[in-house]
Amino acid sequence: MEAKKKGGFTSSIGFVLAAAGSAVGVGNIWRFPYLAAQDGGGLFLLIYLVLVLTFGFTLLATDIVIGRRTGKNAWQAFGAIRSGWGFLGKITFLVPVLIMTYYSVIGGWILKYAAVYMTGQYQEAAQDGYFTSFISSSVSPIVFMLIFLAMTAAVVYAGVEKGIEKFSKFVMPCLLLMILGIAIYSLTLHHTDAAGNERTGLQGLAVYLIPDFKGLTVSRFLSILLDAMSQLFFSLSVSMGIMITYGSYVKKDVDLNRSVAQIEIFDTSVALLAGMMIIPAVYVFAGTEGMQSGPSLMFVSLPKVFSSMGAMGIVIGIAFFVMILFAALTSCVSIMETLVATCMNIFHASRKKVSMVIAVLSALSAIVICMGYNALYFSVTLPNGQSGQLLDIMDYVSNSFLMPMIAFLTSIFVGWVIKPEWIEQEMEIGAVRFNRKKLYRVMIRYVVPVIMIVLFVQSTGILRFLIG
Ligand code: PHE
Repeated sequence: MEAKKKGGFTSSIGFVLAAAGSAVGVGNIWRFPYLAAQDGGGLFLLIYLVLVLTFGFTLLATDIVIGRRTGKNAWQAFGAIRSGWGFLGKITFLVPVLIMTYYSVIGGWILKYAAVYMTGQYQEAAQDGYFTSFISSSVSPIVFMLIFLAMTAAVVYAGVEKGIEKFSKFVMPCLLLMILGIAIYSLTLHHTDAAGNERTGLQGLAVYLIPDFKGLTVSRFLSILLDAMSQLFFSLSVSMGIMITYGSYVKKDVDLNRSVAQIEIFDTSVALLAGMMIIPAVYVFAGTEGMQSGPSLMFVSLPKVFSSMGAMGIVIGIAFFVMILFAALTSCVSIMETLVATCMNIFHASRKKVSMVIAVLSALSAIVICMGYNALYFSVTLPNGQSGQLLDIMDYVSNSFLMPMIAFLTSIFVGWVIKPEWIEQEMEIGAVRFNRKKLYRVMIRYVVPVIMIVLFVQSTGILRFLIG
C-alpha cells in the first residue's frame, strides 16, 4: 500500500536505467579517463575492474537492498532497522545535500559549452583563458546553472515513473550510442605535429590499454589503488543514500542479483568507452602532456582538440557536450530526487510542493557556489594538500570525508550489527540464488571496513600528517 502511494519503477529495466543514469555522470567521462592516463593505463583499468566486482558490487547491493527491504530513504531506513542507528541515516543524507549545492553549477558549465558548440563558436572555446573568464563572470554561469536546475527539477516534479523512469529510458540508450560513435571516430584520427611526428588514434589506444609497470613501487601501487577506490565510490553513487532511495522504488519481484550486475556493467562500460574516446583524441592532438586533471581536461584540453579537428570538430563537440549533458542531468535528478523523497516523508508534503521548495533552495545555494569564482572568491589549502574554492570544499567534504566514513559505518552496521543474512534474505526473494554470497560476506565484514579506514585516513590527509 505504502509503495503504491509512493510510486515506483514499473519495470526492472526502468530501474536499471535510472540507477545507471545516476551512476553515469561527469565522473565516468572526465575523471576516469584522466586517472587511467595518469595511473599507468591498463594497470589502472585492471585494478578498477577488480574493485568494481568486489567493492562496487558489495556497496551497491547493500544500498539497494536497504532501500527495497525497508521501503524507506536513508534518513529513516537505518533507524527503522535498528534503533540507535538513526544517526547514520542523518549523516548519509548530508552527502546529497552537499553535492546538490554544486552539481548544478558544473551542469551549467556543460550546458554553456553545448550551446557554444551549437552556435558554431568552436574556435572561440579553444582560446586560452576562455573557460576561466566564463566561470569567473558574474551573470552567465548563474543563468546556465538555473536552466540546468530547472530541467532537473522538471523531471523530479513529474515523479518516479513519469519523470525519472521515462527520462532515463530515453536518455541512457542515446548516451551509449553517442559515446560509442565518438569513441570509434576517435580511433580513426591521426595528426602530424609541427616537428613532423605523426600520432594516430590507435597508438593513443595503446597508451590507454597497455599496462605500464615502469617505476612501479609498492607505494605507487597503493596510490593507484586508492585513486581507483575513490573513483569507484563517486562513480557508482554509493554510500550517499541515492541508491537507497532508488532501491525503495523497486518491486519485490525484481531479481536484484541481475540488476546490480547490470548497473555495474553499464557504469563500467561507459567509463571504459569514455577513456577510449578521450585518450586517443587528446593523445593525437596534444600528446601525453594534454591529459590534465579536473575541469581543465573537459573545458580546456578537449575544446583545443575539437578545434584541431576542423569542421568535424563542431559535430563532435556538439555530440560530446550533449552526451555529457545527458549524463549530468540524470545524475543531478538522482540527487534531487533523494532530497525531495526524504523531505516528502519528513514534512508529509506533496511531491509538487517539495520539489518546488527544494529547487528554490538548490538555486540559492548554487548561486553562492557560482559566486565563489568572483564576488566570493577565496582559495584555501584542503587537508589533502590541494587548493580549492567553495566548490572544491563541498566536493572534498562530501567525497573525501563523508563517503568513506559512511561506507565504514554501514559495513559495520550490516556486517556486525544486523549481520549479512539480513541482506542475503532480500537478495534471495523469489528463490533466486544470491550468486556472490560468500564474497559478499567476506567483503562486508572484513575487507570493506579495513579499506575504508585506509581510504579515509588517506583522502583526508591524516596519513600525510602522521607520516609527516
Ligand atoms: N556517479 C556520478 C558520476 O560518476 C556522480 C554523482 C555523484 C551522481 C553524486 C550522483 C550523486 O559522475
